[in-house]
Amino acid sequence: MNDLLEAYHRIDRTDTCVLSSIFRNMWDFEYVPLHAIIRDCAFKEDRLELILKKLSSMGIVENKYDEYLGTRFTFKGLSVFSLKRLVMKGIISKMGNILGEGKESVVFNALNDRNEELAVKFHRVGYPSFKKVREKRNYGTLHITVLTVRSAKREYSALKRLYGYVSVPEPIFFDGNAVVSRLIDARELYRVRLKNPEEVLEMIIDEVRKMYHRGVIHGDLSQFNILANQEGIWIIDFPQYADVWSPHSDEILKRDVSNIIDYFDRSYGVKKDLNEVLNYVRGRA
Ligand SMILES: Nc1ncnc2c1ncn2[C@@H]1O[C@H](COP(=O)(O)OP(=O)(O)OP(=O)(O)O)[C@@H](O)[C@H]1O
Ligand SMILES: [Mg+2]
Repeated sequence: MNDLLEAYHRIDRTDTCVLSSIFRNMWDFEYVPLHAIIRDCAFKEDRLELILKKLSSMGIVENKYDEYLGTRFTFKGLSVFSLKRLVMKGIISKMGNILGEGKESVVFNALNDRNEELAVKFHRVGYPSFKKVREKRNYGTLHITVLTVRSAKREYSALKRLYGYVSVPEPIFFDGNAVVSRLIDARELYRVRLKNPEEVLEMIIDEVRKMYHRGVIHGDLSQFNILANQEGIWIIDFPQYADVWSPHSDEILKRDVSNIIDYFDRSYGVKKDLNEVLNYVRGRA
């Protein structure tokens, strides 16, 4: 993924037209057929084939000859395309370093033209181990580019719903598979040695409670998805959130709260009763 920026700079206007066309058509086709791109960009077929060959050698698209020649984004390609759009729209003006690279995302820091620090998260649902994710999340038969864009959209909508009520990074924008939020100068809980673990645990439970009352259950809450510094804590990483009224929401909440309680018990010997906390979160205590 380090070569994302290099690929970004190698893309010219012609390539961008092809990528825009793939993006426009990917909702209907897993592999977008050549004729759809020809319709959008008005290239001759042999010229388009050359462009696709070049994009494929750069790792931006994956071409497939079946009944017809079709093409789709790789994770890198979708990210490069999303980055183009973010820059074009003036959301970011300078990309920085990789902050974190997980199974399902790569996060960079970035600046806008007012020199404000941002985090840009490129989602990658199902790239490359699609099968595992399908089993875990049960998305049906949708293909991975669509799933990936949906994941970004879902995370952005959760942040929008929560920001101002719950301590989450400020959502700035989303486009393609990228979610832009304000950079938080803090580290993941598991990398911090807390001086006041009881107090921090209370703070986290209060945030979970506020989230619950905004209708949201995180769904992957752990020491890896909470940022902490001297000033406070922030909850991050929302693509898998559940609505409180959705089926299994009770189990999901229970798992989230157990993860946190267990972590504080294991790491600091701070103990809390699971049922008491669950009742508090749901507003029954
Ligand atoms: N707004 C932010 N400010 C500072 N750092 C951030 C921000 N958002 C993400 N990060 C950093 O990027 C890392 C990965 O982010 P996040 O947890 O959202 O993705 P992930 O773990 O790859 O998610 P998933 O695998 O569930 O898609 C975080 O652990 C954190 O270090
Ligand atoms: Mg995470």
